[in-house]
Amino acid sequence: ETVRLDFTLNGEPRTIEVAPNAVLLDVLREQLGLGGTKKGCDHGQCGACTVHVDGLAMNSCLRLAIMCQGQQVTTIEGLAKDGQLHPVQQSFLECDAYQCGYCTPGQMMSATALLADDRIGADDASVKEAMSGNICRCGAYKNILEAIQQARV
Ligand code: FES
Repeated sequence: ETVRLDFTLNGEPRTIEVAPNAVLLDVLREQLGLGGTKKGCDHGQCGACTVHVDGLAMNSCLRLAIMCQGQQVTTIEGLAKDGQLHPVQQSFLECDAYQCGYCTPGQMMSATALLADDRIGADDASVKEAMSGNICRCGAYKNILEAIQQARV
């Protein structure tokens, strides 16, 4: 049995049928073919699956798809607009802020959410704290921090 989910995905209104127990991460990757959102740990520990829900960064592996009823979901595929990279994407490129790249979509989704949140301080310590849920096994943290600070306008 499936339930109807009406939501907005990367700016487009969508209506889909999902299993009541389907997790947002799996719906994005397997049902909707959006493979940019990565599955790392699948239990809220790594941040690879980070998306925006109504503008807030969330682990999509911890969220049932049906909880997104009426909400705005943005994935890494929705970050670039009109053929232009988002400033965070541009600065990650310029600062070499990745090695294997697996954690990068989640890093970028957390970074864009934190830059849009004026409650989070601009100093390095505040940015590190806000990014602490995104793990990079290659240890590219120095360049990631540099990229986030460079993207700040
Ligand atoms: Fe969701 Fe690791 S896959 S936090």
